[in-house]
Amino acid sequence: MINFKQIIASIISKATQINEKELEIYIETPKDNKNGDYSFPCFRLAKELKKAPQIIANEIKEKLDQETNEEIEKIEVTGGYLNFFINKEELVKEVLKEIENEQEYGKSEKGKGRNIIVEYSSPNIAKPFHIGHLRTTLIGNALYKTYKYLGYNTTGINHLGDYGTQFGKMIEAYKMWGNEYDLKEDPINKLMDMYVRINELCKQDESILEKCRENFRLLEEGDKYCTELWNKFKELSMTEFSKIYDILNVKFDSYNGEAFYSDKMEEVVRKLEEKGKLIESKGAKIVDLEYAGINTPCIIQKTDGSSIYATRDLAAIMYRAKTYDFDKCLYVVAYEQNLHFKQIFEVAKSLVDEKYTKGLEHVSYGMVSLPTGKMSTRLGNVVKIEDLIKGTIEKAQEIIEEKNPTLENKDQIAEKVGIGAIIFNTLSTANIKDQIFDWNTALNFQGETGPYIQYTYVRTQSVLEKAGFVPKLDDIKIENLLDEFSIEILKLIYNFEETLIQVTEKNEPSILARYLIELAKAFSSFYNENKIILDNKDVQNARIYLTYAVGKVLKQGASLLGIEMPEKM
Ligand code: ARG
Repeated sequence: MINFKQIIASIISKATQINEKELEIYIETPKDNKNGDYSFPCFRLAKELKKAPQIIANEIKEKLDQETNEEIEKIEVTGGYLNFFINKEELVKEVLKEIENEQEYGKSEKGKGRNIIVEYSSPNIAKPFHIGHLRTTLIGNALYKTYKYLGYNTTGINHLGDYGTQFGKMIEAYKMWGNEYDLKEDPINKLMDMYVRINELCKQDESILEKCRENFRLLEEGDKYCTELWNKFKELSMTEFSKIYDILNVKFDSYNGEAFYSDKMEEVVRKLEEKGKLIESKGAKIVDLEYAGINTPCIIQKTDGSSIYATRDLAAIMYRAKTYDFDKCLYVVAYEQNLHFKQIFEVAKSLVDEKYTKGLEHVSYGMVSLPTGKMSTRLGNVVKIEDLIKGTIEKAQEIIEEKNPTLENKDQIAEKVGIGAIIFNTLSTANIKDQIFDWNTALNFQGETGPYIQYTYVRTQSVLEKAGFVPKLDDIKIENLLDEFSIEILKLIYNFEETLIQVTEKNEPSILARYLIELAKAFSSFYNENKIILDNKDVQNARIYLTYAVGKVLKQGASLLGIEMPEKM
């Protein structure tokens, strides 16, 4: 694709002798079209050139006016800004060509040769999969797909919480009450029940707690009975988790969870010891992190010699460096664990090369809650993802029943709409913000929602169906796509790949979610303003083609977020 930013950077570079790459970073896209399609803030150069921005802008413009450039239509100076108006015909030609030629629009090899790990979801075994895990699952999935689409060698890891002292408790509980519970049905809730019961008992009876600790020790040593039980818990949980992953269409390349590192922690302890980083504190082994401005030390080994969460994470970093030679290793985990990641990233500096520690990144995100009222009481206190999904699909069914009772395959469509609503709602707020999940908002067909994007897509498809064909590119006359509504759409389509790049640079799928809303809105304006099927065949061809292009990009973009499009709704 023509890279307008690069072209602009290169012509400014010729006029100023300043490095092109440096200039490109400063180029902005103005909010108001009156200020051009791209603009360059000259105050960025004021220091270097020792002149006022306005003067720089005028001087550069004078030089540029002497040259002609096919891609740029005109340049204006406003204040200290140079505003560039691109040649719209070039833009249209270019976008249409790419839409026509590329099976998967916007796909690239940009990330070729770079290894990315995205760690996401990572629920805890024998605990309910609750809405707290929704964001990690969906943000991670969207990042995974987007990196892949841009050609990165991407590995998705589910770092299951399948280890730790709580399993000693679970084993003890099962020994005591296993025969009371039928784990064939609703196993997670029953395991949870047992867990609550054993915790109560431990509080009252120190000797039971001692037994639990002993169980975990046995498990760490590979005791047959304990391992069998632990495997059973894990299987039961995985069956439940898989149901959710299937319905959300989320996949992983590896399920190496905490237990996987149980035999790889010695190396962590040894290496830290060698480097003189481990100190004794009340019988435990810790790494002091005061020097790095972190006031809480990182505990590596507990008093009883058992390992902990952080140690397993450190072992995982060493293992991942060796196994995947990663350039980036992203942890999509709630902000409650900010301190944990600060600590382990700091300690990791003593364990792996700088190349790897530089690539470690905590993709932190905020809380999800439900509005108080009917919805939350219906779903209970700990809101399980499964119930949220069920409830949302039911709601979608009601809406579809009301809006379009004669629709075929209503159930399938309601599923896509319900899931689309959940995914979009989850991904449309910036990672770091807390969010509320509300059925009325998430399922509003007119709001900034998943269903709105799906609805817009369905509209494009019904236009194409009415037309009965998609015209050939050769039959499109560019002059029919130069009006402001079409240009708005074509500019957005042009920006698709750049949007994906930003998603990966900031690890922020909400950028893509926002983009899809803008594209859907731009299409709605175009659609309300123009007839698409009409007598003038030239105009009709152009508009049908544009509709086809919008459908293609909406579908592709949504699929990177994990949202599927219904063909009708
Ligand atoms: N299992 C943890 C939880 O549910 C999240 C694990 C995050 N990942 C990690 N590498 N520590 O809270």
